[in-house]
Amino acid sequence: MQDNKVQIFDTTLRDGEQVPGCKLDTKQKLIIAERLDELGVDVIEAGFPISSPGDFASVSEITKVVKNATVCGLTRAVAKDIEVAAEALKYAVKPRIHTGIGTSDSHIKFKFNATRDQVLERAIKSVSYAKSFVDDVEFYAEDAGRTDNAFLAKVCEEVIKAGATVLNIPDTTGYCLPEEYGAKMKYLRENVKGIENVILSCHCHNDLGLATANSISGVINGARQIECTINGIGERAGNTALEEVVMILKQHPYLNLHTDINTKLLYDTSLMVRDKMGMPVQPNKAVVGANAFAHSSGIHQDGVIKNRETYEIMDPEEVGVTESAIVLTARSGRAALAYRAKKIGYELTKIQLDEAYKTFLEFADRQKEVIDEDLHKIMSIVDKVSKIAIV
Ligand code: KIV
Ligand code: ZN
Repeated sequence: MQDNKVQIFDTTLRDGEQVPGCKLDTKQKLIIAERLDELGVDVIEAGFPISSPGDFASVSEITKVVKNATVCGLTRAVAKDIEVAAEALKYAVKPRIHTGIGTSDSHIKFKFNATRDQVLERAIKSVSYAKSFVDDVEFYAEDAGRTDNAFLAKVCEEVIKAGATVLNIPDTTGYCLPEEYGAKMKYLRENVKGIENVILSCHCHNDLGLATANSISGVINGARQIECTINGIGERAGNTALEEVVMILKQHPYLNLHTDINTKLLYDTSLMVRDKMGMPVQPNKAVVGANAFAHSSGIHQDGVIKNRETYEIMDPEEVGVTESAIVLTARSGRAALAYRAKKIGYELTKIQLDEAYKTFLEFADRQKEVIDEDLHKIMSIVDKVSKIAIV
């Protein structure tokens, strides 16, 4: 099944919402789910239905409003979890149960006080049981990043036989290096019977800042689904950021991999999730941060004013940001000052620009940023500045 489309599995409402302080009510979740559907995600992981009556209600309500995406509910490898998830998903046009169990020796020993064989048995049983409710069953091998590859391959082969349609290989602790995570996917592709009939999925956490790199390495090595969240929110250091992997695949067409995401909605969706979850986005966040398309040093500003591509590898409009920002600071040069002055209606001659620049530097040394209001003051003291029509 080596299609070039990479499915986007959004878990903002499940792994993302697990973060302290990010709790949403059903109404807020419905608004986000509708937006995710509009954004073009393939799967929305709507919640963990057995975890609370509120989460059950949210998953159930989300199934009623989502028009295109598959709606997925998480479970442990526990019969009751699976029954409750199936009930919550009963109105979904395309329901998926996401069940699984820890497969690393650490999880087997410390979480379950069990043996590999016992965990394998539970994995098979949970997939078969989930399959009795829905056709689409995704299995997660929790802590697959630290699971012995031979055992992981065995688990994968058996759950495929039990009916799994998607195999999620989570780097739950964000431990893997990109080469290692990619090699794991390759190993599974080469050593698991039946793997060509299922989709391999990347689910990476960002503990070492490698979630995005690992997910991309995963798809280069044959995975065809990435599990991610808007703004990369999630447990501890977060999950893979949806906007990052989507734009990486878009900006590197030679990889010959694509998603169905409407990238023009990325920035607005990021703001929506930020506001609803009350979780600020760091200004230097890739793709959607406030500074992602802002230029403040003179050399960069001069380049961008001459041609945006000198310092930008993406067109901001592609992700829904109206334009690149030329931020005026003490590091800015004359080109930036003239550019910003023109934007608010002042056409400067060379002599006027020299004069304005001196005053500008005094402002800039006093404050972090020179804003339009300051520019008007600066222009008012420059000799005979002409106002032009602003286009
Ligand atoms: O990180 C993880 O392993 C998970 C699973 C429950 C899929 O979130
Ligand atoms: Zn996770």
